[in-house]
Amino acid sequence: MSEDLQMDDYAKITYNGKTFEVPVIIGSEGEKAIDITRLRAETGFITLDPGFANTGACQSAITYMDGEQGILRYRGIPVDELAEKSTFKETSYLLINGRLPTSDELRKFSVMLNDHSLVHEDMKTFYQNFPRASHPMGILSAMVNALRSFYPELQTTEEEMNITVTRLLAKIRTMAAMSYKISRGHTTVYPRPDLAYCENFLNMMFDTPVKPYRLRKEVVRALEVFWILHADHEQNCSTSAVRVVGSARTNLYAAISAGIAALWGPLHGGANQAVVEMLTQIHAEGGKYRKFIDKAKDRNDPFRLMGFGHRVYKTFDPRAVIMKKMCDQLLGALKIEDPLLDIAKELEAVALKDDYFIDHNLYPNVDFYSGVVLRAIGIPTNMFTVMFAIGRLPGWIAQWKESMDDPQWRISRPRQIYTGPNVSHYVPMEERQ
Ligand code: CMC
Repeated sequence: MSEDLQMDDYAKITYNGKTFEVPVIIGSEGEKAIDITRLRAETGFITLDPGFANTGACQSAITYMDGEQGILRYRGIPVDELAEKSTFKETSYLLINGRLPTSDELRKFSVMLNDHSLVHEDMKTFYQNFPRASHPMGILSAMVNALRSFYPELQTTEEEMNITVTRLLAKIRTMAAMSYKISRGHTTVYPRPDLAYCENFLNMMFDTPVKPYRLRKEVVRALEVFWILHADHEQNCSTSAVRVVGSARTNLYAAISAGIAALWGPLHGGANQAVVEMLTQIHAEGGKYRKFIDKAKDRNDPFRLMGFGHRVYKTFDPRAVIMKKMCDQLLGALKIEDPLLDIAKELEAVALKDDYFIDHNLYPNVDFYSGVVLRAIGIPTNMFTVMFAIGRLPGWIAQWKESMDDPQWRISRPRQIYTGPNVSHYVPMEERQ
């Protein structure tokens, strides 16, 4: 057990007249766990927890969430404060380095991000050879993995590690914008040293030789907030993928590539695309959302209301509250009237009063309004989850670094309860029925 953890007491497990004591440990916000590290060795038992809903896979000092009270903090700072006062670059520094930077540290970080923002020209060949209909998340996952071949430097010293981390943060937005440009058959736009992180991304996405992109402060701020809200979310599916793959001591790029693949799923980051597709379908069917509510409630129908529900948040998702407010502000500032926003609001109002959604603690999550925000910025629907991935990158990096430095590190290797046949023997082909 880590020395930082408080050990309070022992819990007792009694079985067949024998009692085993397991230590109770308490986190810095009072979260309780029983430490079962010695359980199998001492009792022969393992625990069974499909989907890991009750399993703490690690100790972490990065992000604190309280799903009952709708709390989310990065390194102790509430996410709403960061969304109001910080930038995505500063929040990334906070997550990765454990504290807010001084002005000198932030300046040096900016210089490094700029210096590493170009992508090896040979990578363009890769991009050009993906089939046209490839999903950008598949491309991004493959290209991030490929970075190891282009930048094979070791990551042993702290300086090398800093360069690798900054290189990835700097290049991911160039790579994402590049894939969009190539998918449209346009020339790629290089990063500019005079533009900040978010501005640079927008410019690389939307600037063309015949129509210079006009940066609007409302759009830049909306993107900053969108990325800050996605920057980390403790041990979710993709972050766990990064930690599990990283636990085999693979390189950072491979671990992040696995995280991107996990995020792609519609139950996770892919939900932002799925929400807009669902709202578009409702709109195409004349705004008749009732049918979708009924389908979501029908146990015999696999349909789920996308953008609703969360494994941890059971009262509200604090990110969704900020996202909804920002959505209204952005559309107002840009004078956009998006029928999907009206449908989303009606759907939310109806679902929040419906017994099924109330009883199941189902509330809008961050993805419910984020698609409408991304549409307003001009991001194409199939790039929505890529936007989530860029935002989540500092969190994945922070979690990967933390696991690499963890004195309790062990390769991830869960067990199982076997339910297959008992021993049986090989039957020669001519004797099989
Ligand atoms: N619509 C209708 N019913 C739902 C929904 C939904 N969106 N989400 C959960 N339920 C029901 C589910 O059918 C089950 O009902 P019952 O107990 O009667 O069988 C109950 O609620 C519990 O569901 P679960 O699948 O056991 O819950 P989970 O914690 O395993 O899953 C979830 C969480 C996010 C995968 C799920 O709520 C879901 O599929 N939501 C839609 C997809 C979505 O919006 N995902 C984005 C999550 S936020 C972004 C991120 O951080 O990844």
